[in-house]
Amino acid sequence: MSMRKTCASPAIATILGILLLVALAAPALGQDGKQIYNNRCALCHGTDGDGKGVIMQTDPFGPDFWKNNDDAAISKDIVEGKGRMPAIALSPEETKAVVEFMKASFKK
Ligand code: HEC
Repeated sequence: MSMRKTCASPAIATILGILLLVALAAPALGQDGKQIYNNRCALCHGTDGDGKGVIMQTDPFGPDFWKNNDDAAISKDIVEGKGRMPAIALSPEETKAVVEFMKASFKK
């Protein structure tokens, strides 16, 4: 019994350690681009990227936009702002996630 206990404890500690690491890593790994877009961008750019925002009308993220902007250009506009658009305070991970979401959802 005591033998079993001394063997089990390190295993349990290891499992708990792994669970803790997963829990700590989750926010960084799980950046949900769609959620970020809907929370931080859709009001001005529209849920579908069509520019029909609730508080503002903007140019759609259409073919011209994709022709003229690569990931780096889009990321720069997000974090620095552009014209009437304020800089949006996102981490590099969040910026990447939202750009990936935009490409997957709006680029045709
Ligand atoms: C307060 C309204 C507002 C919010 C919030 C906002 N934008 Fe904008 N955005 C604009 C406006 C207005 C423009 C056009 C800027 C200009 O040229 O005057 C713009 C321009 C852009 C551009 C450049 C478009 C182009 O044709 O070059 C990108 C990319 C962009 N926004 C992405 C985003 C993303 C992604 C988010 C969310 C993280 C976001 N914006 C949040 C209003 C907003």
